[in-house]
Amino acid sequence: TLRASFGPKREVKQRFTNQLQPQASTFKVAVLGAAGGIGQPLALLIKMSPLVSALHLYDIANVKGVAADLSHCNTPSQVLDFTGPSELANCLKGVDVVVIPAGVPRKPGMSRDDLFNINANIVKTLVEAVADNCPDAFIHIISNPVNSTVPIAAEVLKQKGAYDPKKLFGVTTLDVVRANTFVSQKKNLKLIDVDVPVVGGHAGITILPLLSKTRPSTTFTDEEVEELTVKIQNAGTEVVEAKAGAGSATLSMAYAAARFVESSLRALDGDGDVYECTFIQSELTELPFFASRVKLGKNGVEAVISADLQGLTQYEEKAVEALKEELMASIKKGVDFVHKQP
Ligand code: NAD
Ligand code: LMR
Repeated sequence: TLRASFGPKREVKQRFTNQLQPQASTFKVAVLGAAGGIGQPLALLIKMSPLVSALHLYDIANVKGVAADLSHCNTPSQVLDFTGPSELANCLKGVDVVVIPAGVPRKPGMSRDDLFNINANIVKTLVEAVADNCPDAFIHIISNPVNSTVPIAAEVLKQKGAYDPKKLFGVTTLDVVRANTFVSQKKNLKLIDVDVPVVGGHAGITILPLLSKTRPSTTFTDEEVEELTVKIQNAGTEVVEAKAGAGSATLSMAYAAARFVESSLRALDGDGDVYECTFIQSELTELPFFASRVKLGKNGVEAVISADLQGLTQYEEKAVEALKEELMASIKKGVDFVHKQP
C-alpha cells in the first residue's frame, strides 16, 4: 500500500531522539540554499531522519548559524556548514542526495516563470558543481520554475557527461500534499489514507490532480472536480498572496520536500515499496519531461506508473491535452537557455 503520511509511522518516535530502535544512519544529504525560507525548516526535518548520517548545509550567506543551531538536536546526523562557491565542492563530495531550494521566490502578481532569469543561472551553476563532485547522487530540484529548471539541470548534466535521467527529480510533492489535504477535507476522509496522484508539471494548469485515481476510491461531482482542481492549481498563489510580498510557501514546502527526501533514502536503503509523484524525463506522453507517479529504487526511478494515465475521465483527458503547450514551452525555454550560453 502507498504511505500517505510523511515517513514511516513506526519511526515517528525515533525522529525526536536517537535512543529508540537504533537504525543504521548511513546517508549523506546536502541542501543547497539551506539558509532560506525553505532551506531552514527542511534542514530541521532532515535532521530528524534516522537514515541520515551527515547533513551538509550550503548557502551564499548565513548558513553558519543555522548549522550551529541545528547541530544541537540529539538526532544521529552530523551537521556541517559550507558558505560560498569556494566551499561548494567540499559540501557535495560523497553526498547521496542533493536538494536544491536555492533561488528567489515569487511576489504577488508574478508567475513562476517570472523567476526564470535569476533562478536559471543559480540552478545551472549549482548543478555543474553536482556533476563535478557527486555525479551519482539523487538530485531534487525545488527552485522555480520547476518546469524549466529540471530541463536546465538535465542539459547541464549531459554537457558534463553525468546525466542519469533516473536520478534527476523535479520536486512536485507539495502538489500531492495539497491535493491530499483538500480532498480529505472536502470528502471527510481520514487524511492518512488519502492519496491523489498529481501529474504534468508544477505551474498553473500544468498541475493536474487525477481525482478519478484518488485512493481510497472516491466519487466526485463535476462541480467538486472543478473546484478541487482549481484550488490545487492555485494553492501556491494563495500562499504568495497571503504572504503579501514576504515570499511563497516555505513550511508546507519543507514538509513536502522532507517527505521526498525520506522516500528517496528509504529507496536507497532497499525498501521495495516507495512511490512518489515527481517531474522527470518521461516517455509517458510526447513531452520530454512529465510529472507522474514513479516507483523509487536504489538507482532512482525504477518504474513509471503508466496506469495512472489510463482510463482517465473526459475532464482529465482534456486537461492533459490542454497543459501540453505551456509545459512544452517551459521545457524548451530551459533547454534553450543552456545551449545559448556563451
Ligand atoms: P528564500 O529567498 O527564502 O531562500 C532562498 C535561499 O537561496 C536564500 O538563502 C539564498 O541565499 C539562497 N541562494 C541564492 N542564490 C544562491 C546560490 N547561488 N547558491 C546557493 N544558495 C543561493 O526562498 P524560498 O522561499 O526558500 O524559495 C526558494 C525557491 O523554491 C524559489 O525559487 C521558490 O519559487 C521555490 N519553491 C518551489 C516549490 C515547489 O513546489 N517546487 C515550492 C515553494 C517554493
Ligand atoms: C508553490 O507551489 O507553493 C511554489 O511553487 C511557490 C510558488 O511560487 O507558488
